[in-house]
Amino acid sequence: ASGGEVHPPEQPWSHNGIIQSLDHASIRRGYEVYKQVCAACHSMKYIAYRNLIGVSHTEAEAKAEAEEAMVKDGPNDLGEYFMRPGKLSDYFPSPYPNEEAARAANNGAYPPDLSWIVSARKGGEDYIFALLTGYHDPPAGIVLREGQYYNPYFPGGAIGMAQALYNEALEYSDGTPATASQLAKDVSVFLKWASEPEWDERKRMFIKAMGMLSILIGLTYYIKRHKWSSLK
Ligand code: HEM
Repeated sequence: ASGGEVHPPEQPWSHNGIIQSLDHASIRRGYEVYKQVCAACHSMKYIAYRNLIGVSHTEAEAKAEAEEAMVKDGPNDLGEYFMRPGKLSDYFPSPYPNEEAARAANNGAYPPDLSWIVSARKGGEDYIFALLTGYHDPPAGIVLREGQYYNPYFPGGAIGMAQALYNEALEYSDGTPATASQLAKDVSVFLKWASEPEWDERKRMFIKAMGMLSILIGLTYYIKRHKWSSLK
């Protein structure tokens, strides 16, 4: 018998209204979750430290985040590779040098790059949230291999990733209580932003367009009234 696929429930995301932008405090906490938990196994190699500026971090903060990370560079004049503190232009470092090493460390399963995971998976951020909070004991009849866990939201039900988020798995810098569901929500919002950084821009353009449109409609009405006033 197969355990999956259970449809992820829709969450009341604050960014889902017509004009609501992403919750930037949540993106910032979600970055903390990514950095402290997910980055141990998952790369996000298309996101650079500079991308955080004005979104979740100030320029100085993003620079400090980059410098804290050690990145591989080279080859230098002697043909050597070396580690150095990161710069704003660096992408988030990957935990493994290649797919083979990633699989070797995860019982053969491959932790996908998370840069565009929200767009790449059906259900988007609802799926990510459901997956992260959906672990439980396998129902009777489901046989798991070594290194597999039961999660009804993962297609097939048997996933090679253990539950990663628990209450108080980390401490948020803004003091928000770090329950497992809070951690899952924030990292989902962070991954949503990573996948669709134009989300906020789109909403901003929509608001602007509606503003322009109402001015134009008002103006048209006024002109029409004015021009035709003699004819009644
Ligand atoms: C798979 C997210 C932490 C190892 C996945 C998938 C997502 C994800 C979205 C893809 C599921 C799919 O293919 O539909 C996250 C997030 C994390 C996290 C947001 C942090 C909160 C970790 C950690 C590890 C890990 C710490 C290693 C200890 C894996 C592996 C897979 C995977 C091996 C592939 C599973 C399979 O294909 O069976 N993760 N993950 N993840 N993750 Fe994570």
